[in-house]
Amino acid sequence: MLSLSGKRIVIAISGSIAVYKMAFVVRLLIKKGADVRVIMTPASTRFVSPLTFSTLSKYPVFTEVISEEGWNNHVEMGLWADAMVIAPATAKTLGHLAHGICDTLLAAVYLSAKCPVFIAPAMDLDMWAHPATQRNIQKLIGYGNYIVPVGEGELASGLHGAGRLAEPETILSFLEDFFAVRQLMKGKKVLITAGPTYEPIDPVRFIGNRSSGKMGIALAHACAKRGAEVHLVLGPSSLTIDHPLVQVYRVETAGQMHKEALALYSDCDLGIMAAAVADYRPREVADKKMKKSSDQMEITLVKNPDIAADLGRRKMPHQRLIGFALETDQEQQHARGKLEKKNFDAIVLNSLRDKGAGFQYDTNKITILLAQDNKPRVFELKSKAEVAEDILDITNDWWPNESE
Ligand code: CTP
Repeated sequence: MLSLSGKRIVIAISGSIAVYKMAFVVRLLIKKGADVRVIMTPASTRFVSPLTFSTLSKYPVFTEVISEEGWNNHVEMGLWADAMVIAPATAKTLGHLAHGICDTLLAAVYLSAKCPVFIAPAMDLDMWAHPATQRNIQKLIGYGNYIVPVGEGELASGLHGAGRLAEPETILSFLEDFFAVRQLMKGKKVLITAGPTYEPIDPVRFIGNRSSGKMGIALAHACAKRGAEVHLVLGPSSLTIDHPLVQVYRVETAGQMHKEALALYSDCDLGIMAAAVADYRPREVADKKMKKSSDQMEITLVKNPDIAADLGRRKMPHQRLIGFALETDQEQQHARGKLEKKNFDAIVLNSLRDKGAGFQYDTNKITILLAQDNKPRVFELKSKAEVAEDILDITNDWWPNESE
């Protein structure tokens, strides 16, 4: 696989007995054709000398923001890299990175980095299991970093368990997979609608639904991970996404979502209609808060535009469109009907009869129906992130991987 050839990688090392493994990582990266720069925390140089790493990488190794050579430009290094690998990452380093404490060159480069960051922790099993460490890991994942899982086995303390630095080959294949996956949808533009819509009744009330936007946001993450440029039209969800490849357009009503989606789709290769769009809106919107008067009140509703159907009508031969269907009965029949009516290439079916599927959950259970064949693809209950990958895997047939 050529995915690491020519890639600019910053290897950032903190102080652990596992530092010796990084010599193998640097060597393997160089063999794969990567361009490697190494930075070390002062503590890590007590385990392996910087000379080892400068010899292997053929570049000087920096340990301080200000050294004898002068000021080491951490911003420049952070911008130069295609990937930064922090390994071994000690409990202290994880804590500093999670809280933005900038006390080393390593932390300064991390805070300046615009590239994906991979963190491979290494520590004793109790330190690894401590809630403080696990909370820091979750924080770092939340900031968009990738964690290379720790290995299990004998630790430097003599104890057995989880906490070992991943093996050099594992770190390498983690990086290779990342760059290979990033080719899958490179150059593609994707429009995603997500979240609920709110249809105002008066300045304080609205008609809405329980959609959280989680599935659409997971899809936006997954598309960006595959290298696509994502345009996410997001209804009033409490969630958001911060990723350089994802542009978010915030909307409230179905009408606003319709307008944004229509303007964006003509320039996109794929549309994914994950929003729970209100089918109707109040005909009249009061400009002042409505006062309680009679025992009953009636609100006349009028139909909202069907965004997905409109895009389906405008779809050009090179474009694809994926819809969703949330059903309670005769699920596949209803979903197939929607697929045909709205000119989808695929429809993702959720049944409310399945436990853990649908709104608000972190999990989902889906069946995918394709326009091109009659064989439903049935999936197990999975996290929404995994479900997003399953959905995008169907696009592999539409755009065979034009990898490097
Ligand atoms: N959809 C849309 N705009 C609408 C209604 C639905 O874009 N006004 C999209 C949804 O995002 C989903 C698909 O159409 O991808 C199917 O949505 P669903 O609400 O299940 O279908 P409806 O056509 O509204 O049918 P019904 O509510 O009668 O089941």
